[in-house]
Amino acid sequence: MKENEVRASFEKKFGGDYRIFAAPGRINIIGEHTDYNEGFVLPAAIDKRIYVAIRPVNGSIVTINSVDFDQTINFNPEDELPDLPHWALYPFGVVKELQKQGLKPGAFEAAFGGDIPDGAGLSSSAALESAFATALNHLFDLGLSKMALAKTGQSAEHNYAGVRCGIMDQFASIYGRAGHVMKLDCRSLEYEYFPLDLGKYSLMLIDTRVKHSLAVSEYNSRRNDCEEGVMILQSQMPQVRSLRDVRPKDIYPYKGMMGEEIFLRCEYVTEENERVTETCKALTEGDLDRVGRLMYASHKGLRNKYNVSCAELDLLVDTARTVEGVLGARMMGGGFGGCTINLVKSENADTFRKVTKAAFFQKFGTEPAYYQVNTGDGAGESGK
Ligand code: GLA
Repeated sequence: MKENEVRASFEKKFGGDYRIFAAPGRINIIGEHTDYNEGFVLPAAIDKRIYVAIRPVNGSIVTINSVDFDQTINFNPEDELPDLPHWALYPFGVVKELQKQGLKPGAFEAAFGGDIPDGAGLSSSAALESAFATALNHLFDLGLSKMALAKTGQSAEHNYAGVRCGIMDQFASIYGRAGHVMKLDCRSLEYEYFPLDLGKYSLMLIDTRVKHSLAVSEYNSRRNDCEEGVMILQSQMPQVRSLRDVRPKDIYPYKGMMGEEIFLRCEYVTEENERVTETCKALTEGDLDRVGRLMYASHKGLRNKYNVSCAELDLLVDTARTVEGVLGARMMGGGFGGCTINLVKSENADTFRKVTKAAFFQKFGTEPAYYQVNTGDGAGESGK
């Protein structure tokens, strides 16, 4: 088990007492690319986590050992941007973002590792940020609220990993509750837990195991497209602050002003927000057929209007449609690779795996990976 590996590594490298904190990755049922548009999302934390074994030390040097990369680095938190491997930018970013809030986390030594597959779109980076933010908050009594921890992780991602992400991933990692999905209003930051009761169905993830190199630049450029759309809408409707303020029908009159591409981006976001609300209603009513249809519709929008899918994801979703017992499928997360999320009747899961694996292999010559997902609790001290 990963937690034991992290403990063993800490003991070997540093010895002595320590505390251990953990933060999970996430799935998202629906509501993609809506978070940075002040819209709605419906994520859940999963039972795969990053574990951090940590203790405060005297002096000013932070030492962190990555069990998975088998690397140990040092930095002085006063440094502006030391030369660090990519993984270390996340904990470094968290420390810097805490400092920007006037807080003074002390020096520490830590070992971390996890079982969230990397590059699968399960937010291992948000889990890493959330795990360190939570650990430092406890270790140095910083007194930050859960929302402040989520925002600290998000800022670290913006300023040190260069992704202008929304709040969904860090929120899910901090607030997760086993057995539940969470509807988050990314404007007011109000949230509601919904029990995830799938009966004879389960959620399966299929990992394309590709991450196209455009992912970060395209992500940021979609965000710019939406901002441009909002500016145009604002020039006609001054009360509009974000795409959250408009419904699909409100934007059609401005299609000409926006141009085809910006219009499609905005149209997708307004439609996806409505789908999140409809999915919550369908979940409450136990109408899984409807949840599945909304997932397919979400994928269609991400593929044709938002343009963040790729051949590997599309093949998996197209194949899912042909298999009995599959109610819905869509790409999950930022796009350009990573996983699809599928709502599948449990008794059809084996056939589904076989059929998608064969179709994928035939087209791309590689095999995707399959993960059974369970929901889990949000970040906290392990064993407490
Ligand atoms: C990434 C970002 C999130 C969100 C999704 C797309 O996971 O980190 O904030 O925008 O993409 O829904």
